Amino acid sequence: MKTNELKLVYFSPTGSTRKIIMETARSFDLKSVSFDLSVYKEKKPVLKFDANDFVLFGIPVYYGRVPALFMDYLENISGNGTPAALIATYGCRQYEDALLELKNETEKRGFKVIGAGAFPAEHSIVPFIGARRPGKTDLKAASEYGIELNRHLRRESDFSGFNLLVPGNTPYRKYGKNMLFPKADNSLCTECGACAKVCPAGAISLSNPKKTDHKKCIGCMKCVRMCRQKAKSVNSLKMDLAERKLTKVCQNDREPEIFLEGKS
Ligand SMILES: Cc1cc2nc3c(=O)[nH]c(=O)nc-3n(C[C@H](O)[C@H](O)[C@H](O)COP(=O)(O)O)c2cc1C
Repeated sequence: MKTNELKLVYFSPTGSTRKIIMETARSFDLKSVSFDLSVYKEKKPVLKFDANDFVLFGIPVYYGRVPALFMDYLENISGNGTPAALIATYGCRQYEDALLELKNETEKRGFKVIGAGAFPAEHSIVPFIGARRPGKTDLKAASEYGIELNRHLRRESDFSGFNLLVPGNTPYRKYGKNMLFPKADNSLCTECGACAKVCPAGAISLSNPKKTDHKKCIGCMKCVRMCRQKAKSVNSLKMDLAERKLTKVCQNDREPEIFLEGKS
């Protein structure tokens, strides 16, 4: 089967996953089309892919899992024996069951996963962890991953016999309960609405950006990053605690890991 187009389906509130997926995609000799699911859509788009597409899925790891919001989007995404590869970025702690969950869930929906990559990146909650990653070496690994995937595509015509092994366990880890919710500082917020426009979960009201709906907020920190007035932040006591906890368990020198059929 000749592959005609590369489709990039990703969720990347703070941009690290996007950087890795774009670098991987550059190594393909195929035209690519992007579906950025970090832009809030009230109505989840229906995306159907064919056997002659190749889909790269990209997610950040949340609590060692696939973000719940990405899973909601996945409900409306289907393949038809479509070959695919996975990218997960994580904040230098662990990615635990995220790749396994993403593989199982995409394969249930008609995709055949032929490669997977876990890439350490800046921690979106505590940005001094993994600061400035993905860096040069990470991007080189992403580019080489793309070269290998492209080679697979050129060499193989039938992926039905592929059975890629990726790390992870079932039952999957439980989602964390102590989510950190950014709040607006009323004295700094100018109600410009920039945070409401970029919130991937549609949790901030455009008419009153000082208000966040905690039932919808996924704690991704995009509003904290985006606010020019620095009006959005997490309670400093909670942030101190998170920083102390994460500093103990994260390792800034973690390396990208690539899993391909017949290679680990
Ligand atoms: C709610 C939440 C949970 C997270 N859970 C993990 C985790 O379990 N392991 C880890 O190493 N990093 C974790 N991170 C960090 C992100 O996975 C990491 O920063 C990722 O690269 C962000 O991708 P993005 O820039 O594309 O949004 C978490 C971040 C958030 C906001």
